[in-house]
Order: sequence, then C-alpha cells, then structure tokens
Amino acid sequence: MELGKGGFPKEATDPKTLTYNTYLKVPELLSLQKRLSEPPAHDEFLFIIIHQVYELWFRLITFELEVITKNVADKRLPDAFRGLDRVLEIFGVLVQQIDVLETMSPTDFNKFRGKLNPASGFQSLQFRTFEILSGADIADYDKFSGLEPEWKDELATLGAKMSLRGAFLTLLKKEGLSTADLKRVYEDEKLQLLRTLCEYLIRYDEQIQLWRFRHVQMVERMIGMKMGTGGSLGATYLRSTLKKRFFPELWDARTEMETSY
Ligand code: HEM
Repeated sequence: MELGKGGFPKEATDPKTLTYNTYLKVPELLSLQKRLSEPPAHDEFLFIIIHQVYELWFRLITFELEVITKNVADKRLPDAFRGLDRVLEIFGVLVQQIDVLETMSPTDFNKFRGKLNPASGFQSLQFRTFEILSGADIADYDKFSGLEPEWKDELATLGAKMSLRGAFLTLLKKEGLSTADLKRVYEDEKLQLLRTLCEYLIRYDEQIQLWRFRHVQMVERMIGMKMGTGGSLGATYLRSTLKKRFFPELWDARTEMETSY
C-alpha cells in the first residue's frame, strides 16, 4: 500500500479523496463499542462510550502536561498558563461527565456489571500516567494489583521523567526559593508571576480532587459498599484517595499566611 503524509494510506491524505470520515477515522472509532452482555444491556453502550471518551481526554491531558511541565521548568510561564487553562477546562468536562453516567440506575448497571469482572478503572494506564506526570510518587504504585507486567515497566520509565511537581520545585530553586518560602511568594509583589502559577497549581489539585469526589459519590450511588471489580474495597478504598494532593505545600502555606485584624 502506498503511504502518504504521516504514514497514512495515500488515499486518506490525498486532498482529492480526503474526507471528514477518513481524516478522523470515524468508521474505525464507531467500530470500537462492543457490549459483553447477552442480550446486550441498553446501558452498557453508555458505560463503554463514557470510558472511551475519558481515555481520549486522558490522552490529550498527558500530551499537554509534558509541554506544560517543560514550560514551567524553563520559566516560560505565560505559555505554561495557556496549557494549564486548557487542562483545567478539560478537568471541568471530566467532572461534569459523571452527571451523564448518573442517568444510569443501579439496576440497569447490575444487568451487565457481572460481565466486567475483573476489569476496572484501576487498570487505566493513562490515569496512572497522568498521576505520575503530575507528581505522584511512583513508589505508591507497586501495590497496584491488576496492572499488566509491561505497564509496570512503562510506569517506571514515566517515573524517571520530570513531573509538573518536579518542574515547580525546580523553578522555585532557580529563583532561590523553596517550598518553605511559599508564604513570601504570596506576599511579595515582585513574585506576582510565580504567585499566578501557584494559583493555577492549587486549582489543578482542586479539580482532580473534585473528580475523585464525584467519582466515589457516583460509585456509592451505583454499588453501595460492594467491593470493586478490580478487587479493592470499592468506595472505602476510593474515599482513602480523596486526600491525595500533588502540591500539598501550597495548601499548607495557607495556614501560615497571616490574618490582619
Ligand atoms: C458505574 C460506573 C463506575 C463504577 C461503579 C466505578 C467503580 C470503581 C471502583 C469500585 C473503583 C476502585 C477499584 C476497584 O476495585 O475496581 C474504581 C476505580 C477507578 N475508576 Fe471507576 N467506576 C465507574 C466509572 C468510572 C469512569 C467513567 C471512569 C473514567 C475513566 C473511572 C475511572 C476510574 C479510575 C481511574 C479508578 C482508579 C482510581 C484510583 O485508584 O485512584 N471509573 N472505579
């Protein structure tokens, strides 16, 4: 087969034959929603599509994150802010999408849930990638069951890359500051740009925590206190993740800030 631009088959890139459908690979995309239930449960279609949509957004987020991280480390902050604006807007969509999933009732979910075992969001490599590129400690991931062995290698490779948290700490260091100086960043007018970055990063933590909270709330609404298909304690496990923050020092700095009376 003759290949054209970007390794696409020639007819797919030739302006004479290029269409919306060939460019976006719509037929391929629409062939990917295969229900496991028999006869097919109505809501399994929603369940598959919503997860696939999440995975596509995770793909874009991790793609943007690598560029944002580099821009932060190199102090190109206006460029970093543009990327963060995009990622924060996507987070908003991720949180809102849970409302769509909640149009499914627990009884409708139970019609196909048994077929999913032992598949689980636990195994979303892209979600783990996002957490690690944000700043989660790779050591926390050893305990995860259900990860394919080759994914463990991939996560270890990711762990060696600079994370957004790592870039933030690097930038502070370049400016002669450390996380112990964050209160000063908020008080010193000369450090305004850095303060704007801190506000973006605290929103970043806030948005992902919001997603975690909406997810566990939805999980409890669907399955109560049942165990997860991935083998965890379900809502009990998910509630334990609500405290996770990538920039805890930014939150701690609030406690240290002085109140005027
Ligand atoms: C009916 C809908 C859903 C239910 C009942 C559900 C349930 C669960 C449960 C119980 C867990 C804990 C791990 C386990 O034992 O399986 C989990 C983890 C997870 N789920 Fe869902 N989930 C649902 C929808 C979604 C959607 C739409 C996404 C989007 C990608 C998602 C992403 C995740 C992720 C990333 C984790 C890992 C979280 C972590 O370890 O911090 N889930 N889910």
